[in-house]
Amino acid sequence: MSLATKAITTFSSLFTGTYSALESIISRPSPENTQQEDHTFQPPSATDKRSPCPMVNALANHNYLPRDGANISLLKLIQAAKAGINLAPDATLIVGLKALQTSTTGGWFTFNLDDLNKHGIIEHDASLSRKDVFFGDNHSFSPEVWATVSKHFQGLEKIPIDVAAKARKERVENAKATNPEFNLTPDHERFSVLETCLYLYVFGEGTEGNARTDWVRVLFEQERLPFREGFKRSDKMLTLVDILELHKKVEAASLEQKK
Ligand code: HEM
Repeated sequence: MSLATKAITTFSSLFTGTYSALESIISRPSPENTQQEDHTFQPPSATDKRSPCPMVNALANHNYLPRDGANISLLKLIQAAKAGINLAPDATLIVGLKALQTSTTGGWFTFNLDDLNKHGIIEHDASLSRKDVFFGDNHSFSPEVWATVSKHFQGLEKIPIDVAAKARKERVENAKATNPEFNLTPDHERFSVLETCLYLYVFGEGTEGNARTDWVRVLFEQERLPFREGFKRSDKMLTLVDILELHKKVEAASLEQKK
């Protein structure tokens, strides 16, 4: 294990342990309350706020996040990701801290889902299912953009890492060729790779990739968790260490594509 991985593992277990202890003191969720919550899928109303992220939108469409998508605290985001997909608190914290930088709520510790549309914080060019900000709408699902990406998955029951890496890389090349103001900083490129890792990890086989194609489609196309199609919240917590391992694999596969 490298020194960096050791440091991340230590941070992960310390943060996750401390978070769980604090959460049980602050929220004291009773089993009755948890059972009463209605997590059925409901598409957003015209006034509900949504983001360029299919997963946070799905969490709101299932009421893990507030259905109106408004005034979301970091604690709520962490709880929602844990309840919906068993994502480790430290993994959510990293992207959640970035999300707070987009906030327009007037409070530094909350944000609205549509605040995430702000270009250049997390939102970047060459999204897998959204147009670039140059074309006017960087947040709504774009069937045209998604078709150029999802064509790579046709005929596949599962999406291997190299196919996901190729789909992402071609999308970047396409955006470069068509957007006169294309810009993807190294930081945003890392986020772009991370987003590919996230769908591979949540719907796949640990750090091996192989995400179920039908589940990935449901997430992107309907912003719904694919429970009806057999998806189950993982019993094992989805960790930051695993995500970073997958990140390395997707990056390596992208470099292979360049050759
Ligand atoms: C919990 C905190 C999270 C926040 C605040 C967040 C935020 C965002 C934002 C702002 C984007 C837009 C980036 C862009 O394409 O320009 C994005 C994209 C994305 N997010 Fe999340 N995200 C979170 C968690 C997750 C998780 C757990 C998944 C797991 C599947 C996920 C999957 C994705 C995917 C696949 C994209 C790419 C969408 C596309 O390129 O069309 N996100 N996220």
